[in-house]
Amino acid sequence: MVPVIAIDGPGGSGKGTVARLIAQKFGWHLLDSGALYRLVALAGLRHGLAANDVDGHARLAAALDVTFEVDAQGEERVMLAESEVTRELRGEQTGEAASRVAAWPEVRSGLLGRQRAFARAPGLVADGRDMGSIVFCDAGLKVFLTASPQDRARRRYKQLKGKGLSVNLAALSAEIAERDRRDTTRFVAPLIAVPDAIVVDSTALSIEDVVGRVISLARERFPGLTRQI
Ligand code: DC
Repeated sequence: MVPVIAIDGPGGSGKGTVARLIAQKFGWHLLDSGALYRLVALAGLRHGLAANDVDGHARLAAALDVTFEVDAQGEERVMLAESEVTRELRGEQTGEAASRVAAWPEVRSGLLGRQRAFARAPGLVADGRDMGSIVFCDAGLKVFLTASPQDRARRRYKQLKGKGLSVNLAALSAEIAERDRRDTTRFVAPLIAVPDAIVVDSTALSIEDVVGRVISLARERFPGLTRQI
């Protein structure tokens, strides 16, 4: 069985960065499942779907024409059909729309097979909200990464600013609180720490500390596979 590290947690907890660094370190595949929900929301906008068109969004989820590329500078580029959506994908508006479509079971099941197909040798690091609870419920290591809401808003602010996007900290904090509420209270696949997940609170930790902690957990769980790294 392909080894899987599932990293779940709320937005801004650092899970995306941590997952990417661990995947690089181990030479494993990476699944940014949030990007798939964002892509469904974007595809819906591009196809002119109504915001409440569940079936239309579910059809797009099942047939999403997406490619993840890495350019000559090592930067990731995301293509939806023929057009590049890398920047648009990370915007708060897309995050908002993604959180709405992610609440629909039809969209979630439309993305399930695509997500599971990322589990290929030598291993997978998957980040999202339901990696450990649903998509990879038999993952060998499940981490639930969290941080205080204030800390997450500050991190997201820096991250978006760094990408040249215009943001406002107060508005961002309010959006994060609203998204947390929606993600944790939705009926399907709510954001929860499953009993077999190891909870890591990154509020007082640097990204390096968190990566170090997950790597040592991975070494314990997958001794044969990560010994040489
Ligand atoms: O992590 P992110 O901000 O890119 O996620 C965008 C939205 O998608 C977020 O509101 C929660 C949702 N999501 C989800 O429901 N399940 C996942 N596995 C990943 C993201």
